[in-house]
Amino acid sequence: MSSTFILSLFLPYTIDFHDSGRERPPSPPPRRPTVQRLQSKLASGAGTTADLKASLFEDPTAPQSPLEQKREEFFAQFNLERQNHFKQPADRSVVRNDAFSSDFGAAAQYFNQPKSRAGPLPSGNILDYAKIQEQVNQSQTASRKVSPPNAKSSRKGSHERSFENKTWTVETAIQGNGGLTNAIQATASSGTGFDKIWVGTLGFPTDALLDDRKNEISEKLESEYESLTVFCTDRDLDGHYTHFCKTILWPVFHYQIPDHPKSKAYEDHSWKFYKAVNQAFADKVISSYKRGDIIWVNDYHLLLVPGMIRSKLPDAQIGFFLHTAFPSSEVFRCLSARKELLDGMLGANLVAFQTREYANHFLQTCARLLTVEVTGDGVASGERWVNVTHQPIGIDPAAMKLARELPGVDEWILQLQERYKGKFLIVARDQLDHVRGVRQKLLAFELFLNKYPQYRDKVVLIQVATSTTENGELLATVSDISTRIDSVYSTLAHQPLVFLKQDISIPQYVALLTVADCLMITSLREGMNLTPHEFVLCQDGTASEKKHAPIILSEFTGSAMVFGDSCLQINPWDYKQTADAIKTAVDMSEAEKERRHNKARNLVHHYTGNYWAENLVKELDKVHSEHYRRDTSAIPRLNLAQLIDKYKTADRRIFILDYEGTLASFGGDNTTLTPLQRVIDTLNELLSDRRNIVYVMSLRTPEDLQSLFHKVPLVGLIAENGSFLREYGASQDEWIAFTDLEATTKWKKDVRRVLQYYAERVEGSSIEERHCSLVFRYEKAEDIEAARSQAGDCANHINDSCDMYDIHAVPVGKSILVESVSFSKGTAATNIFSRLREKNVNVKGLKNPDFLMVAGDDREDETIFEWANELGDKGVIRDVTTVHVGKRNTCAKTTITQGTSGLLTVLEKLAKVSTEGVDAADYFSGRKASISAG
Ligand SMILES: *[C@@H]1O[C@H](CO)[C@@H](O)[C@H](O)[C@H]1NC(C)=O
Ligand SMILES: *[C@@H]1O[C@H](CO)[C@@H](O)[C@H](O)[C@H]1NC(C)=O
Ligand SMILES: *[C@@H]1O[C@H](CO)[C@@H](O)[C@H](O)[C@H]1NC(C)=O
Ligand SMILES: *[C@@H]1O[C@H](CO)[C@@H](O)[C@H](O)[C@H]1NC(C)=O
Ligand SMILES: *[C@@H]1O[C@H](CO)[C@@H](O)[C@H](O)[C@H]1NC(C)=O
Ligand SMILES: *[C@@H]1O[C@H](CO)[C@@H](O)[C@H](O)[C@H]1NC(C)=O
Repeated sequence: MSSTFILSLFLPYTIDFHDSGRERPPSPPPRRPTVQRLQSKLASGAGTTADLKASLFEDPTAPQSPLEQKREEFFAQFNLERQNHFKQPADRSVVRNDAFSSDFGAAAQYFNQPKSRAGPLPSGNILDYAKIQEQVNQSQTASRKVSPPNAKSSRKGSHERSFENKTWTVETAIQGNGGLTNAIQATASSGTGFDKIWVGTLGFPTDALLDDRKNEISEKLESEYESLTVFCTDRDLDGHYTHFCKTILWPVFHYQIPDHPKSKAYEDHSWKFYKAVNQAFADKVISSYKRGDIIWVNDYHLLLVPGMIRSKLPDAQIGFFLHTAFPSSEVFRCLSARKELLDGMLGANLVAFQTREYANHFLQTCARLLTVEVTGDGVASGERWVNVTHQPIGIDPAAMKLARELPGVDEWILQLQERYKGKFLIVARDQLDHVRGVRQKLLAFELFLNKYPQYRDKVVLIQVATSTTENGELLATVSDISTRIDSVYSTLAHQPLVFLKQDISIPQYVALLTVADCLMITSLREGMNLTPHEFVLCQDGTASEKKHAPIILSEFTGSAMVFGDSCLQINPWDYKQTADAIKTAVDMSEAEKERRHNKARNLVHHYTGNYWAENLVKELDKVHSEHYRRDTSAIPRLNLAQLIDKYKTADRRIFILDYEGTLASFGGDNTTLTPLQRVIDTLNELLSDRRNIVYVMSLRTPEDLQSLFHKVPLVGLIAENGSFLREYGASQDEWIAFTDLEATTKWKKDVRRVLQYYAERVEGSSIEERHCSLVFRYEKAEDIEAARSQAGDCANHINDSCDMYDIHAVPVGKSILVESVSFSKGTAATNIFSRLREKNVNVKGLKNPDFLMVAGDDREDETIFEWANELGDKGVIRDVTTVHVGKRNTCAKTTITQGTSGLLTVLEKLAKVSTEGVDAADYFSGRKASISAG
């Protein structure tokens, strides 16, 4: 049975260490976490409720003490509860849906875990960093010991030993991708689960652990928790996560443009750590991989892994899902490692995003930066095809239902209801960083209070800010605003803003969502925020009254694309609009709330985590088998003996043969490497049998083709990628144009102007004029790389600005072809066939074709292969042979490995069969008939 590897930076499990002296009660027999087992309930929140009550719900009649002081009291007690809550053995835990990742080793607050020995953090300044490196080098040569030159290193020895004799237990991790963990666990409990293996790190620095200990841990996790542990050095992890992921990738993916003076994206010294960690993941999977396994890579921490695995396992089934937003190409191109990152992702068979918008951004970025061919659902990466799709992640309603039954929830609900009776309660819980827009939210709220005085003593905003690490500046700004609101609008009886600088427990959170009158999310950029999903389910009242409260949601979140108009969508930069949205929410009628809630609830129940995971796995499987089927090594060679048999018994045969790369190996502009004479002779021989109809298709203009094939009078021609047709047997210049020439002239005028702009900027480039297309050629450019990048911009420019013309710009080799979308070789072939059938009705004595052979090599020949295969499958034509001459993926049913000359040999053999087998009288009369018809 095949397994599914699920790669994510953090495993859903981590390790807690205990002193062997004061031994903890032995941990319960390890069981896998299931949703059912949640019913055994965690005791979080229950014991300390009374203490908390005093602080969370401050007595409004008490004299106002300075804000900060009150908060401190609160947190002193709050932390206690938090620890109780988070320290749960791995077999009975609720995992939060929002990604809970904070700094590496942050979990050390709750668990006893080693500290990082990574040494000094790379400094914000590249010169400082170089200095530190030098010191490290010196101390290494001096002591022959890998240790950073800081105070910690002297204590290193004792620290290491201190973990030697400790016992340890497996715990549920508090950092990592909760949405992913819950979605995968939902598939397990829905019974459709697959045999999964998590692959990830333990989430804390492990240099301090001895190898034996590491082995023990990874063995236990592998045998009992379906987890493969990836060990990296503290230094690699630190550079990878704290540096490259957090200060470069995360900001850029959320539109924090690196042009910003404070940006650190110009530093690429952490790139090698990023690569090292990605390589460690790839190596782990490669060493455990069995044929048939599925590899599913998650998130921006591991962008390079698909490519690294692909290079070792060319046939593996690899999927990649990005859990964050993907920025527009204008932003992504700022990354110095942009090409490597894209190539890494393109190692997958399927690359998936949260929304259509992100998928489009990715496609456009590939088209632009890699100058590769891109369609609406995929990218041509070298010889391979990579499908690109989107599928929003969701939550597991069953798990949410259980979370609502946790002890403490009901009690909290009652208390909150009592405390905020008669108030309109807006709730929010965000990580305090630059992308979540907490500052913008508070400013909008302030504006609301100012603009609508009638609501001042009615509305309360509770803002929970979950992480305040590293953002002192932002915290200071936000605290300022909060103090200002407090001092201007608070009265003895009413405090409109409650700003909690730390996280709350799950029961508190669930209670807050249940009693709220509105949820407010103002992220400036965010992938999928799952809080609205949880809010909708909490508001879907069971025992407590149904509230069906509205959601105010930033249009820059992936969630906004899922929920559409069931939410009040706002632009968080527009404070006035946001303030008005709060007013709309307060005034909203019950019927309106009901309408919006029902829509949102249906969406939450439809787009669940389970649905997400199953769909992706299904799609990956489908895509992989498509790719594998089309992989030329899996496609049989053309069987000549069989082909000759079919040929002999056929009375009416059609050949459709591609020219460039198929009949003639393609050597750029006009130089064909195969002697044209051989092609001409072969075609004439074939055509000498009147049962044969031959078409040659090409990218060239009608005039070019006419002069190339003037010695083959009977041959049918398809020019300019299907825009022109010269029928079999027609006279030399009897061309049929499929395009509307007037419209073509119009768009060409505009596009020529764009092309000229680029041609002037790329030395050695030229514009080629064809009847129905324009080509920007840069193969003679002096600086090919620069030209390629200009060409990418040019194609992008045309795709974007010439929407109304129904044209597109496609990279073909070292050129950009601009042509109409509506005509292809496929449409031309369909046309030939229908004309032929019409004629067959009219011309006495001719039968329907019973033999069709199509040969091609390019991607645009695929449409004809598909068309021909379908005619064969439906039995319209008795014998259909599709032949692919080349190495890329194809849906043709056979291949020829010797390329062009192989194909010519086959055609020559067929031609010989035909002259031998044909009655001479028949031959001459047929020849005469054709000529006189033409
Ligand atoms: C440190 O040593 C490594 C090789 O051991 C070398 O590649 C690197 O350039 C050195 N760095 C500095 C700053 O001297
Ligand atoms: C760990 O245990 C071994 C043997 O039981 C003992 O020799 C060693 O001193 C202990 N180490 C520490 C740091 O306690
Ligand atoms: C993958 O892409 C190909 C080419 O665009 C398309 O024909 C196919 O339907 C896609 N597969 C899936 C499962 O979407
Ligand atoms: C291109 O091919 C055509 C047809 O054979 C020929 O007439 C023409 O001279 C060629 N042009 C060049 C530049 O070789
Ligand atoms: C333009 O569109 C075509 C087809 O839709 C696509 O193949 C090409 O990659 C696009 N180019 C850019 C730069 O977006
Ligand atoms: C020809 O038409 C097909 C189908 O629309 C398209 O994919 C291809 O890029 C076009 N151009 C060339 C040069 O093949």
